Amino acid sequence: MNLAVEGIHTYYGESYILKGLSLEVPAGKVVALLGRNGAGKSTTLKSIMGLVQPRRGTISFRTQRIDGLPPFRINALGVAYVPEERRIFSHLSVRENLSIAERKGSPWNSAQMLEMFPPLAPLRDRRGRHLSGGEQQMLAIARALVTGPRLLLLDEPSQGLAPVIVDAVVDSITEMKTQGLSILLVEQDLEIPFKLADYAYIIDQGVLVFAGSCQELREREDLQSRYLGVGA
Ligand SMILES: Nc1ncnc2c1ncn2[C@@H]1O[C@H](COP(=O)(O)OP(=O)(O)OP(=O)(O)O)[C@@H](O)[C@H]1O
Ligand SMILES: [Mg+2]
Repeated sequence: MNLAVEGIHTYYGESYILKGLSLEVPAGKVVALLGRNGAGKSTTLKSIMGLVQPRRGTISFRTQRIDGLPPFRINALGVAYVPEERRIFSHLSVRENLSIAERKGSPWNSAQMLEMFPPLAPLRDRRGRHLSGGEQQMLAIARALVTGPRLLLLDEPSQGLAPVIVDAVVDSITEMKTQGLSILLVEQDLEIPFKLADYAYIIDQGVLVFAGSCQELREREDLQSRYLGVGA
């Protein structure tokens, strides 16, 4: 197992958010983490990344416990995180954003990223602050990849993007999967998960309400309407 989250309880101060959540990401698989607004999806990724520490439960990555470690250590072990708010350097160019993130031993370098995300190629000298939301999203994912992660945590990569950019993001995730990367993909809707996820979890108010194959979720329209607002 690449990532195993077991019974985590996460709080923000007095607010009790994740109530005994467990999930797994097998090596080389794409796992979707679904749920409506405020369900606790981002908090789950932040808990894995060490940005908020669960009060109880364990998180293991490959052979090692990572709960309690600071984020930079978790990152150094091979976990990369692309947050909802896409933290790229606004004063640096596309090329500079990539080159400062690049690490030796990564299967991906900056030049390959401009091939994986074709819309970025002609913008290589443009500063981060002059990119559109979709271009920033592609750059944020590319920056995570050039660090050579074993597990990628993606928080709503398609949010607010034009359809053509969503397609580019879907193609890139497909390519990462082909290369054997494990991905935990947070989404609010089912379009992208149905294209490429192997397994899906649904959380609601910090509790797991579905765990199964993406195929099974496809057939469970009751769950889709109850927890994801599909067809509502
Ligand atoms: N820093 C914080 N301090 C206090 N409460 C927070 C904090 N961040 C999130 N919350 C609360 O925790 C709950 C879960 O938030 P979270 O961001 O994990 O949800 P989400 O599933 O990612 O939602 P969305 O789809 O809107 O991104 C929400 O009720 C939210 O208001
Ligand atoms: Mg969120």
